[in-house]
Amino acid sequence: MKIMVVGGGGREHAIIKKLKESKNVTEIFALPGNGGIAHDAKCIDIGAKDIEKICDFAVAEKIDFAVVAPDDPLVLGAVDALNEVGIPCFGPKANAAIIEGSKVFSKNLMKKYGIPTAEYEVFDDMSKALSYLETAPIPTVIKADGLALGKGVIIAQTREEAKNAVKSMMEDKVFGDSGNNVVIEEFLTGPEVSVLSFTDGKMVVPMVSSMDHKRAKDNDEGLNTGGMGTIAPNPYYTKEIADECMEKIFLPTIEAMNKEGRTFKGCLYFGLMLTEKGPKVIEYNCRFGDPETQVVLPLLESDLFEIMQHTANGTLESAEIKFSDKSACCVVMASDGYPQKYESGFEIDMPKDKNIYVAGAKLDGEKLLTAGGRVLGVTEVGDTLDAAIKASYETVKTVKFGNAYYRTDIGKKALLAKK
Ligand code: AMP
Ligand code: GLY
Repeated sequence: MKIMVVGGGGREHAIIKKLKESKNVTEIFALPGNGGIAHDAKCIDIGAKDIEKICDFAVAEKIDFAVVAPDDPLVLGAVDALNEVGIPCFGPKANAAIIEGSKVFSKNLMKKYGIPTAEYEVFDDMSKALSYLETAPIPTVIKADGLALGKGVIIAQTREEAKNAVKSMMEDKVFGDSGNNVVIEEFLTGPEVSVLSFTDGKMVVPMVSSMDHKRAKDNDEGLNTGGMGTIAPNPYYTKEIADECMEKIFLPTIEAMNKEGRTFKGCLYFGLMLTEKGPKVIEYNCRFGDPETQVVLPLLESDLFEIMQHTANGTLESAEIKFSDKSACCVVMASDGYPQKYESGFEIDMPKDKNIYVAGAKLDGEKLLTAGGRVLGVTEVGDTLDAAIKASYETVKTVKFGNAYYRTDIGKKALLAKK
């Protein structure tokens, strides 16, 4: 079977490496992929948002199955377009991807169907938002409605900060049309858990839970990033909490989407906060998380391609989905300065026989050069979380490139939970 994976980051590399283990997969194309992915798939220079060219390529190459991994093409309707030209896909159609594409949609969905989430108000008028902030409880959370490269959420510690955030989104349009509407919501506290799930719209099968580390610096300091590392499973997410989430969040969400005529098929990502009043949804994503995928898929023991086919066909009940009971840790190595300005173009020297997922790198002849903020993720699997973390940091020491930066405390908070 000829497979095409749309996207070009560490998440896509992890998906591709797992698909390569599947017995029925003979050839994998990555659109556009990257210099590191080129080791495992044929990279085609077509951007992930160029839906017309993606469809033309898929038809010309007689692709048997497509995996659309990033949020933008999903929200833009890549799956709809590929299905129209006869290509089966893993991923939701645009009318279901809106669960990530619009925070106003997802918040209203949760309210309508009684799914636990932070209290909130929606504003399309800046002066009303600003006057609401005169008396809103502080800290408060301001969210741009649409996609904003993971940067559309501001936790405001003061009224002034909150007002500035609203102005930057609604007046200065820092996120373009994504800020036409804003959500202002209650600030919640508690450990965060990412739960990725397979769903075909009939059943939902959660994957092993994980924990992201979004801030740039150790001890959760510094700016928000796309994710500096992950561990799985997340020790805060006990069996009891998992059962509660299935009953109060996962199944109700799938049913709600069906009732709205927006059946979701693909990977539905639940970003949860375990508050004193129980688990609540912080966000939904319509796709695999990055870098969550880099710890979740290495623990998958079943055939990913078969699961993806069953998901797309609506036959998930017949899929074998088994995760190992080991632990995994992924340490992201970035260019120093990320998520702001950084230098790149440095040669990467890394071991060939390790689980290293490349995100920001390009080939220059035989050489692999850094070409992005997050350069790569080093994943190791161990019998315990402690062993996985130690092994990851051992491997990190063997990876060399100029201007390298990484957090030294990935998994530390998770280890505390176990004590
Ligand atoms: P998001 O882009 O929606 O994942 O939000 C980014 C991060 O902001 C989340 O991972 C949380 O750490 C934080 N966050 C979002 N919403 C809230 C909230 N209502 N209360 C506290 N923290 C939040
Ligand atoms: N790691 C968070 C995300 O993929 O959105």
